[in-house]
Amino acid sequence: MLVLGIESSCDETAAAVVRSGVDVLSNVVASQHDLHAEYGGVVPEIASRAHVERVTPVVRRALRDAGVSLSAIEAVAVGNRPGLIGALVVGVAAGKALAWSLGVPLVGVDHVRAHLYAGLLRDPLDGTPGVVAEDVFPAIGLVISGGHTALFRCESALDVRRLGSTIDDAVGEAYDKCAAMLGLGHPGGPLVDALAQRGNDRAHDFPVSRLGEGSLDFSFSGLKTSVLYTLRGQPSTGADGQRRWERDPAGLSDGQRADVCASFQRACSRAIVMKIERALDLVGGPGGGPGSGGGCRSIIVGGGVSANSRLRKDIGALGAARGLRVVLPKMAYCLDNAAMIAGLGFARLAAGERDELTLAASPSGAV
Ligand code: KG4
Ligand code: ZN
Repeated sequence: MLVLGIESSCDETAAAVVRSGVDVLSNVVASQHDLHAEYGGVVPEIASRAHVERVTPVVRRALRDAGVSLSAIEAVAVGNRPGLIGALVVGVAAGKALAWSLGVPLVGVDHVRAHLYAGLLRDPLDGTPGVVAEDVFPAIGLVISGGHTALFRCESALDVRRLGSTIDDAVGEAYDKCAAMLGLGHPGGPLVDALAQRGNDRAHDFPVSRLGEGSLDFSFSGLKTSVLYTLRGQPSTGADGQRRWERDPAGLSDGQRADVCASFQRACSRAIVMKIERALDLVGGPGGGPGSGGGCRSIIVGGGVSANSRLRKDIGALGAARGLRVVLPKMAYCLDNAAMIAGLGFARLAAGERDELTLAASPSGAV
């Protein structure tokens, strides 16, 4: 079955054609980073307008790249939640119009759950065997992105239960803010990652938030504040009532910046790996933990931050130590894309689910 996927939840307009839920025939992503760069973050109104301009050419390009005509599409999957509402409605409207005009089923897909599906996708031409769902589930799932940081227990791609999530910033947001404090640009994650390669990860002992014993939630605001104080020193209030800092990070050498990036990255990775370990202990590693309901076979990771080199290495090491498969998306499927939407859409269709043309966009998620 050929499914056309459409994604427009934030600042990427994307379309993809996926066969049988796993083989990615095309994956087109039109990023809007250049439009938002000067504002240091995504401006919702600009994002919505750009989606309107780009969604039709992006869908056309996805069909062309896949070498299929529109009439070959057998279902349309669209990311309808969570995200920026004005951005989501553009993809949802496009998906509905296509499904209606082609007379094929429409399925709405939760963007966060779709990130968990991304590791199951494969490129039919690169010869890699791909991952079989039977070898993956049950699993501990982790979504780490610019908007989300959450842990899940996954019985299958569709049967997903949230175990914990961030109580303040998402980890990708912390990366972006760290990059902004260092004057590196936006989005900052890949820039911090690149600079960290040359730094000493023990140069600064940044805090790793554990929260309460047994908590599966995350917190990154303390780490962000610690980076700020390290870079700028203590704040004080001048006679004019303005806040002043001891130092200006503009004076840092490249080596000092690299040390901050490497130490920040180490703290982020430790915070995340610790929570995966806790989740495995609480809800089931091999053989099962208390209340596990069955041993997990794997750790599934998705979302933009799963592209991070340090995290990929550290989670890989955790999997090896626990005897668990680690399912990481290929780089192209870590960031927002429509192949993951088409993939999870196929899973919904295969389970007999579909949506009506009344499908609504929603800013909040399903889990
Ligand atoms: O999944 P995604 O494309 O969008 C959301 O759903 O939020 O994730 C984007 C986030 C950004 O915060 C970006 O800085 C971060 O992923 N990111 C990274 C890396 N590549 C992208 N963070 C750390 N290391 C990276 N290599
Ligand atoms: Zn995302």
